[in-house]
Amino acid sequence: MKITPREEALLKRTFVDYYPTSEFLLDPLILERAQGLYYWDTQGRRYFDAIGGIFVATLGHGHPRLLEAMRKQMEKMTFAPPLHGIAGVTLDFIERVGMVTPGNLKYVKAFSGGSEATESAMKFVRQYFKQTGHPGKYKFISRYHGYHGGTAGAMSASGTGPRKTKFEPQMPGFLKVFPPTHYRSRFESWEECNRFAAQSVEDVIVSEDPETVAGVMVEPVGNTGGIITPTAEYFQILREICDRHNVMLIFDEVITGFGKTGSMFAAQTYGVTPDIICCGKGLSSGVIPIGAMIAREDMADAFWGTAADDVHFAHGHTFASNPLACAVGMAVIDEIVENALDVRAQCMGEYLRTRLEGLKKYGVVREVRGKGILLGVELVKDTGTLEPFPELGRALKKTALRNGIILRIDPSWFAVSPALIATDEQLDEMCGLIEKSFAEALDEVSQPALVTTNP
Ligand SMILES: Cc1ncc(COP(=O)(O)O)c(C=O)c1O
Repeated sequence: MKITPREEALLKRTFVDYYPTSEFLLDPLILERAQGLYYWDTQGRRYFDAIGGIFVATLGHGHPRLLEAMRKQMEKMTFAPPLHGIAGVTLDFIERVGMVTPGNLKYVKAFSGGSEATESAMKFVRQYFKQTGHPGKYKFISRYHGYHGGTAGAMSASGTGPRKTKFEPQMPGFLKVFPPTHYRSRFESWEECNRFAAQSVEDVIVSEDPETVAGVMVEPVGNTGGIITPTAEYFQILREICDRHNVMLIFDEVITGFGKTGSMFAAQTYGVTPDIICCGKGLSSGVIPIGAMIAREDMADAFWGTAADDVHFAHGHTFASNPLACAVGMAVIDEIVENALDVRAQCMGEYLRTRLEGLKKYGVVREVRGKGILLGVELVKDTGTLEPFPELGRALKKTALRNGIILRIDPSWFAVSPALIATDEQLDEMCGLIEKSFAEALDEVSQPALVTTNP
């Protein structure tokens, strides 16, 4: 879109996340309005939001039930004192979350975003071990290519090279293993590869000394590594390893939570219950910033005592347990449960996967992967050599915007995650726009045209 000199000057006084402003200015996007699955820019042009903003607008933008829940709460109380009080609606939220979590994950604290949730979970686990006879357990194992947030602790747990090296040294006590995708060319089967990757976690725990390891933090489906989708067995093995060594298994479900993978949480999709779930994004569908840490209820026993015992969780944030955010979060959960939108995500996902698989005819798609409606497409120059194709992704970024569709592109893969309320027609519209943009991008990078198969 064309922007005014004033807009350009103001854009230079801020930054868009993780993206050079100079490049953003070549193809800027200034948005004004959003409704359902669409955004409109300041010049009135419409864009299909294939990614829920950024895995956020699970129920689409401006969902009336969510706005109404927020409006009602606004009229009652917009803020409760976090240090010496709590809102009644926050207690309702805690109850509601506990109804949809796996196992006894019922100890709930709401925050302002995903990074606060992951940071809090790590602090919670460290303090938990200090108070349960294992004061030496403080290390966290997470994965290269993973992302757990932008704050110092969450960034230390993240394994996305370019996002963290600028700020190193990272905090001590953070160790990394590779996700299964790293080893996939070395194994005959994906299952075998996943077993090896999971086992490497135990190798690290044992080598580090289990009495020093507090937690393993993983995304059930890893976005930043390109929608990394391990097998269910991978998570079962992680569960067994963590149990063997008294290590807390933390699922970072900031992206995967709230229906996208075909269940309320990916933990349920995989059939593996972690000790803690961190979530955010879709919990408010973008209506208000929110995150949450959800731990095993029995873990809270370690924090139970008098002021003199000094064992309470020594943690807090001004906007934690915010009444507006809790009211909206509850409405999101109710909407998903009442309309079985997680089940719908499974059907939508199957259809979407088939359509994305259709892109393989262009000869530059290695794999379509993901769970439910959280899907990714890996781009390669040649399906024989499997050489990554970042040029195609960069071109796709431009053609997609030109055609009025917003995707997550990075640049040798792209992801989609449309709102759970998308109609069949909207899914078709989205798939049409993706294929058009894909074909045009491929043209621009002058790859050989359509691969034909012998009749
Ligand atoms: C898996 C994951 N964890 C944590 C975060 C951090 O959440 P926030 O940006 O809300 O702080 C993100 C953000 O993209 C994420 O994708």
